Amino acid sequence: MTDTTSTYTGPERVFSGVQPTGKLHLGNYLGALKKFVALQDSHECLYCVVDLHAITQPVEKGALADQTRQIAAAYLACGIDPAKSAMFAQSSVLAHVELTWIFNCVARMGWLERMTQFKDKAGKDAERASVGLFDYPVLMAADILAYKATHVPVGDDQKQHLELTRDIAERFNREYDAPGFFPLPEPLIQGPGARIMSLKDGTKKMSKSDPSDLSRINLVDTADEISKKIRKAKTDLLGDMPSEVDGLKGRPEVENLVGIYSALSGEPVEAILRQYGGQGFGVFKPALADVTVAHFAPITERFREILNDPAEIDRALAAGADQARAIAAPVMDEVRRIIGFWQV
Ligand code: TRP
Repeated sequence: MTDTTSTYTGPERVFSGVQPTGKLHLGNYLGALKKFVALQDSHECLYCVVDLHAITQPVEKGALADQTRQIAAAYLACGIDPAKSAMFAQSSVLAHVELTWIFNCVARMGWLERMTQFKDKAGKDAERASVGLFDYPVLMAADILAYKATHVPVGDDQKQHLELTRDIAERFNREYDAPGFFPLPEPLIQGPGARIMSLKDGTKKMSKSDPSDLSRINLVDTADEISKKIRKAKTDLLGDMPSEVDGLKGRPEVENLVGIYSALSGEPVEAILRQYGGQGFGVFKPALADVTVAHFAPITERFREILNDPAEIDRALAAGADQARAIAAPVMDEVRRIIGFWQV
């Protein structure tokens, strides 16, 4: 594929989205939200609660608006600043839907049929999956390109969707003789270090759907709950802490705990192992509990506070939607002109 990125001369802009399904945890914070927050200082950012994506699969009746507020509260608690970034619900900016339709006519069936996430989510009975679930990646492309976003912080699992977004942008630009109109957005993939595993099984990702609540540290957990979960975290019977990175091989639980320590404190893994190597978990775990409480408990406390004031969350979301609409409107005007729809 020819790279037409270089022909795009617009400003750099960041877009990302989180689905309003389920509760967030330490893995989401370290894997995604922390990065979102850091990008605010260098870029114009849009952070969306992707509620249109959420309805591609069954949603609990009447729960959607509250779940949207929950994600907005998480954004705010982690440090998304509505004065710097546009934080809004996807369904309140109609450009997402309009551009999805246009992109439906740009994307090819074959492209979507290759999407592994659809195959995973649809399972064996793809005939019964909603058309929306199939079209999910096209909506995602519209999310990003309605704002001509150039950079998209996402997890590894979204890489294929970003490639599709680039294919759609490239084909639109070519088909409508509009070179460089849409940027070809780049994923900012979180490194493997940002992958936080279950506290009960170092080979499984920390997940909101794990039946054991002890497997994860939730955004709603208090300082006491956080310490308790770290103390009860699984380790192994291979003895003390290793003093070098090599010693973490084959010890996924220990590697995960050291990774959490490093991600929260900012200390490199090597330095942590130098300090705790040769010591037992009776020493390391309380130290990790302290680090986790010091860095994460203020966030969970703020989260619980913000949730107590839903009117404030609603005001932030409404203001963010206004900002987002103002950015998308001129892009959509241009899109309509480029396609050649009748207009006055
Ligand atoms: N599909 C993404 C996820 O599950 C969420 C998402 C929707 C998104 N639209 C987006 C992420 C646009 C980045 C950009 O994580």
